[in-house]
Amino acid sequence: LSNHLFICLFSSLPGSQGGSVARAILEGKDFSVRAVTRDVTRPSALALKELGAEVVKCDLNDQESLKGILKGAYGTFLVTNFWDDFNKEKEVKQGKMVADASKQLGLKHVVYSGLENVKKLTKGKLEVKHFDGKGEVEEYFWSIGVPMTSVRISAYFENFLNIWKPVKASDGDYYNLMLPMKDIPMDGISVADIGPAVASIFRSPEEFLGKAVGLSAEALTVQQYADILSKTLGKVVKDSKVSHGTWSHGTEVKSLFCHLTLCEIGKIF
Ligand SMILES: NC(=O)c1ccc[n+]([C@@H]2O[C@H](COP(=O)([O-])OP(=O)(O)OC[C@H]3O[C@@H](n4cnc5c(N)ncnc54)[C@H](OP(=O)(O)O)[C@@H]3O)[C@@H](O)[C@H]2O)c1
Repeated sequence: LSNHLFICLFSSLPGSQGGSVARAILEGKDFSVRAVTRDVTRPSALALKELGAEVVKCDLNDQESLKGILKGAYGTFLVTNFWDDFNKEKEVKQGKMVADASKQLGLKHVVYSGLENVKKLTKGKLEVKHFDGKGEVEEYFWSIGVPMTSVRISAYFENFLNIWKPVKASDGDYYNLMLPMKDIPMDGISVADIGPAVASIFRSPEEFLGKAVGLSAEALTVQQYADILSKTLGKVVKDSKVSHGTWSHGTEVKSLFCHLTLCEIGKIF
């Protein structure tokens, strides 16, 4: 294979972005894959090796090892992870290091899992750190002239099985879906569908270079998501109609739903 496409693999959850992209690219057979993880012994890393990926150990905080791993690559898929440390500055630093290395090594195409800079878009009225940092990284890639496509990925449907899973109601035999979305449809996508979309972006650089592309399978209201969960799980799931004001989650996630529902920050906190 003449092309060498390296994947930054983020592998703690089965089916995370890096794994999905790696599998889709391996299926296409037009690029080879170097998948990066801090722990090459993870079951998901071993499973990718079985599929034909080269799996290498790398910490995104280590610039020198990063350059060694990217050397000779056609391109890379990059996911930075705010949630590992809840640290925007660290996420931005990681993204910029990959951007600098990509520039120095002359990579032909980087696909970055970015998001919009909400703080900039709202002129500082609303801050969503796990969006804003990715927005800063997007801007940095383009400002230094790296050929990059940003994929702005909507909420994983898989969130409904973990962080957003329905909560048992205290007053009856049903479950509540507790997302403060009012009745506004929320975009979502299955992690399994991210890989094929990113792989097709790598295969059509002329169409996607320099662009930010939103990835969504469909946008549904919380009640519509609840109806699907009810049908699939055989249990009654309802939209709890929880409001921003009474929602108990931390500020960062609250700000996310503010952004998704375009609330004004003054009305919420
Ligand atoms: N959940 C959603 O709905 C959603 C939607 C859009 C975007 N996102 C964004 O997606 C990102 C997370 O991606 P994901 O879901 O694919 O991740 P994930 O499955 O949760 O895995 C995160 C992985 O990050 C890797 N990692 C963390 N720090 C690292 C470092 N210093 N060097 C190398 N690897 C490191 C770890 O892999 P190893 O331990 O194997 O090294 C860890 O397993 C977040 O930034 C989030 O904001 C999430």
